[in-house]
Amino acid sequence: MEWQQVLASRSSRMKASEIRELLKLLDQPDILSFAGGIPDPALFPTEAYRDAFATALADGSAAQALQYSVSEGHLPLRQWIAGEMAKLAIPCDVGNILITSGSQQALDYLGKLMITPGDTVLVTWPTYLGALGAFNAYEPNYDRLDLSGTRSASEIVARAQAAGGRVKYAYLSPDFANPTGETLSLAARRATLRLADELDIAVVEDAAYQVLRYDGAPVPPLLALDIARHGSIEASRVIYCGSFSKSLAPGLRLGWVCAASPVIGRLVLMKQAADLHTSSINQIVTDLVARAVFGRHVASLRATYAARRDAMLAALARHMPEGVRWTRPEGGMFVWLTLPKHMDGGDLLAQSLTHEKVAFVPGRAFFADGSNGNTLRLSFSCATPVLIDEGISRLGQLIGRS
Ligand SMILES: Cc1ncc(COP(=O)(O)O)c(C=O)c1O
Repeated sequence: MEWQQVLASRSSRMKASEIRELLKLLDQPDILSFAGGIPDPALFPTEAYRDAFATALADGSAAQALQYSVSEGHLPLRQWIAGEMAKLAIPCDVGNILITSGSQQALDYLGKLMITPGDTVLVTWPTYLGALGAFNAYEPNYDRLDLSGTRSASEIVARAQAAGGRVKYAYLSPDFANPTGETLSLAARRATLRLADELDIAVVEDAAYQVLRYDGAPVPPLLALDIARHGSIEASRVIYCGSFSKSLAPGLRLGWVCAASPVIGRLVLMKQAADLHTSSINQIVTDLVARAVFGRHVASLRATYAARRDAMLAALARHMPEGVRWTRPEGGMFVWLTLPKHMDGGDLLAQSLTHEKVAFVPGRAFFADGSNGNTLRLSFSCATPVLIDEGISRLGQLIGRS
């Protein structure tokens, strides 16, 4: 069978993710990995899940937990999420919330909802690799979400037209972004909304790491700022994507979209067509776990991850040679390194795996145009402070020799 002749053009843009390939390395015991941006499994609230699964499967509950359910999602969970959104100055009701199979599914649906092949999506430079992967299937072009004001809205529009479509939305992760760990200032958030107004486009706010703040003052979500300007979520152009993956556990695949009800209505139709609904039992269990432990659990995650972040920043200061720069994240899981111009993160990884047994993610894949090869992403989420120091020391020596 010559498969190429039956494949849709969109499939040519689906590439194996460097991160997925690298995650395989985590199984090798002698590799010190700063590669996977995953939660530390030792920190999962396993007891709470055990209790919740027992409750969900008890007589009288099991039928609902094991049955099909509605596409919008489990009502008590949507109510709990609406309560959390209200704490972020995002007043909304359950009609503004759709439960998705992880926030990754939300990114896929939003690409499907808004991108006609040839349209332009504005993304930060670098951006979350998984978002590029999700959107790529819908054959967009990418342009840089540049908030410096050096490019006017009309220049951005002209470029999108020349590329064969129109600008549809800006995608960004304003808190502790993957891969840079950086947080967008209040002024930059306001500038994003102003640019979106000028272009008359949607804004997709990826809040995957939002609760993992270790220090500094919280900055309001773009959706909260937009609601403050317009008086209601129904008048907002921001589509907020939340996730339980970093706050509770990713294995249940639970995320949500919070947006104006017409957007939610469209996404519900999409979900009906794609997978009917997110797993009933996983939604019921997540609701029980969230109500039982969320606040307490997130507080303990923050304490542990903050210590690892501190250890990584201290190790970088101690071991990195001249000419290497890095970010200082206030939360999340990542530090972003910029190497001297002549170096390449991919080449360094090959050397590092062979000679130092240290893994990380080369930065190039996070740029929509594959540029900036002299960068890399380090995750501090899964290593203890002692191993962080050891791994960064080895990496620093390797960079020094390169
Ligand atoms: C920025 C960002 N968005 C979304 C996701 C997807 O998360 P999930 O589908 O597990 O909610 C991730 C996962 O690492 C991420 O880093």
